[in-house]
Amino acid sequence: MSFIPRGRFPTTRLRRLRSAPWRRALVREIVLQPADLIQPMFVVEGTQTAAPIAAMPGVSRLTIDLAVSAAQEARDAGIPAIALFPAVETLLKDATGSEALNPDSLVCRAVRAIKGAVPDIGVITDVALDPYTSHGHDGIVDGGDVANDATVAVLARQAVLLAAAGSDVVAPSDMMDGRIGAVRRALDAAGHADTMVLSYAVKYASAFYGPFRDAVGSRGRLGAGGGPADKRTYQMDIANRDEALREASFDVEEGADLLMVKPAGTSLDIISDLKRAYALPIVGYQVSGEYAAIAAAAALGAFDRVTAMRESLTVIKRAGASAVISYAATEVARTLTADVVAVRQ
Ligand code: PBG
Repeated sequence: MSFIPRGRFPTTRLRRLRSAPWRRALVREIVLQPADLIQPMFVVEGTQTAAPIAAMPGVSRLTIDLAVSAAQEARDAGIPAIALFPAVETLLKDATGSEALNPDSLVCRAVRAIKGAVPDIGVITDVALDPYTSHGHDGIVDGGDVANDATVAVLARQAVLLAAAGSDVVAPSDMMDGRIGAVRRALDAAGHADTMVLSYAVKYASAFYGPFRDAVGSRGRLGAGGGPADKRTYQMDIANRDEALREASFDVEEGADLLMVKPAGTSLDIISDLKRAYALPIVGYQVSGEYAAIAAAAALGAFDRVTAMRESLTVIKRAGASAVISYAATEVARTLTADVVAVRQ
């Protein structure tokens, strides 16, 4: 968009481009496609059970068998990848998150089951300790804060286990310094050169993660076990824009394949900045609280749910994201697939 023609009314009338669906279709700059969307899923122990998440109408914690079905449905709707998050049993949580290093953990079994049944869908797993720690932090607490280097060493081992279970993409969401390089080196050393690293490069300390923390059972834990009461010593300050470029530059140097920005809807400026600065695909994460806000307003009759979801995802793509993670991904993808047969509205 470097040259803006000096049109003048009435010779130029911009409404000429909008006066019919076919005209709008012809000049549309961004078309949201199922292939742009990633479906996150919460998995839980058990069989044939979907446990609803209070603040997220339409989203449940799924037992592995139901997660396999949900992955099939996502694939059938044209979704290329899913992202798995385990809701780990309380008994298995401890101060160091040791269950994260169990090769037969819930998430590892879920990855194996999904890749076994739906091999053509990409599986993304989170690299972080918060589902596994008794204090709910993403790493190991020492001296009142999360210890960076000790945590990175564990995360690198966790990433190798997830790749060995069949994860196509590992996504460090912990915000420790230096973890992308450590994860990349560990993957390569273990023979997982083809496993992608999706860096949560720009992850803000955000109120919008609330429903997620309820879903994985980490919210009420923060502040316990000598750890800080929030994640602001490692997640970024929402007031900072330049720092996002620095964060991303480290991850690019360290070998990230994809850069994530979250929460996406409140960071469109950051997605745009990163898109201009780096020739890497950017993934926007419409996080749990963003989904919850739209779902709640729609339930109150404020607007049509799917229309609002589609709009919110389209603008994340317009800002520069190549893909968007959304709890509404499959739901929205189905409406987009139906659209393909008609001129887009
Ligand atoms: C944890 C993690 C979080 C999310 C993804 N990975 C929460 C947090 O940092 O506390 C949030 C996702 C969402 O809210 O949908 N490592």
